[in-house]
Amino acid sequence: MNTKPYIEKHKDRFINELIELLKIPSISADPAYKNDVIKTSEHIKKSLEDAGCDLVEICETPGYPIVYGEKIINPDLPTVLVYGHYDVQPPDPINLWDSPPFEPVIKKTELHPEGAIFARGACDDKGQMYMHVKALEYLTANNELPCNVKFMIEGEEEVGSESLGWFLENNREKLANDVILISDTGMISKEVPSITTGLRGLSYVEVEVTGPNRDLHSGLYGGAVANPINILCDMIAQLHDENNHITIPGFYDKVEELSKEERAEMAKAPFSQEDYNKALDIAQEHGEKGYTTNERNSIRPTLDVNGIWGGYTGEGAKTVIASKAYAKISMRLVPDQDWKEITDLFQKHFESIAPKSVKVKVSPHHGGTAYVTPIDSIGYQAASKAYEDTFGKTPIPQRSGGSIPIVALFEKELNSKSILMGFGLDSDAIHSPNEHFGIWNYLKGIETIPHFYKHFATMSK
Ligand code: BES
Ligand code: MN
Ligand code: MN
Repeated sequence: MNTKPYIEKHKDRFINELIELLKIPSISADPAYKNDVIKTSEHIKKSLEDAGCDLVEICETPGYPIVYGEKIINPDLPTVLVYGHYDVQPPDPINLWDSPPFEPVIKKTELHPEGAIFARGACDDKGQMYMHVKALEYLTANNELPCNVKFMIEGEEEVGSESLGWFLENNREKLANDVILISDTGMISKEVPSITTGLRGLSYVEVEVTGPNRDLHSGLYGGAVANPINILCDMIAQLHDENNHITIPGFYDKVEELSKEERAEMAKAPFSQEDYNKALDIAQEHGEKGYTTNERNSIRPTLDVNGIWGGYTGEGAKTVIASKAYAKISMRLVPDQDWKEITDLFQKHFESIAPKSVKVKVSPHHGGTAYVTPIDSIGYQAASKAYEDTFGKTPIPQRSGGSIPIVALFEKELNSKSILMGFGLDSDAIHSPNEHFGIWNYLKGIETIPHFYKHFATMSK
């Protein structure tokens, strides 16, 4: 198999098609973009048909539609189910973008001398999802598809994949597969390919602290009543101790501890703390005592404030003690923490540390279970060989700190392992202003994916 000549011949079209897809603002979190999200699902349907699927449907759900496509060449052959998402994060803060988030432009960067496409969703996940559509085009156009393929592209990943759980339960047969293939993660670098073998779980909550029943003059009342913003900051500060351990009782009870050998294996992955700090313009890293940066951001659980607000934040100064203060808090979880249990522990603890002078309300948002996949499965081995074919190197297995909660559900509902072949880089700025995806990475993904099919079909015999 040599995927290169076909890609070389069609690469301009592959890039232009992705650019068209990126122009539609499919922001699932914001109801104002409802029509655009739906329009994107129709766009994907058309691309799957053009790429060679025999059947493509837009499946309605209680939320946004799921695009399902398939090409079944022989029911006796194995089936690969490709999962991806066509929704994107809100582009905010919009003023920090160098070019508008839904007007894709190609620019060269230090890491991407071949150019990168700048747009919201370029890497997460439209660009990476679309690699699979183009890989299918390659396989069908060249008559090289060695097994069956199904696609399931959803529009609610960035808001918790609620409808997908429902869809899985109701469509087990339709979605039956031998392996699930996902490109929605990253790799170490262009020179060091890696396959993601783990994802963290998540518990996301919102807290509200209420002090007096109305906003007060901070001179007339200041010093005599609890200021909910001061109290909230104090309560948040208490959630970590001096070693940056999380102080919620029971939080670490079920955390899987890795063996010395496993940690030594992890430490072999190339990493420079200096480059890391430089890329983020920080004088020093920060985290849980006793763990390295790569351990802190993958095998250890965390608690972070994602947003905090209250009081006066407009122009100039206003002297006021606000009635309420709020924060959005996420906890990244690891095997074998149960996100519902952790949410409960958080709630109880947060309520227990509140002084009598305020009222506290904790509202859980969404959550998900962590995932770890073994490297001796046929799926992992086929992926590993695919990278060997196109990178000339064996990829490094690496656990990621991000979350794709649906992956644990795939295992539970469909009994399938997911193989995470991500082609993004940490510097691609997913969820941030100026998100981008290297053209090299995009084309390398399209080049590599067909090799996965080839090896998976051969090794499954
Ligand atoms: N694709 C990301 C997750 C990701 C990125 C995993 C890079 C590993 C490496 C996904 O779209 C995402 O953003 N997930 C959310 C969770 C979701 C419930 C909103 C996350 O990790 O914050
Ligand atoms: Mn994603
Ligand atoms: Mn995302």
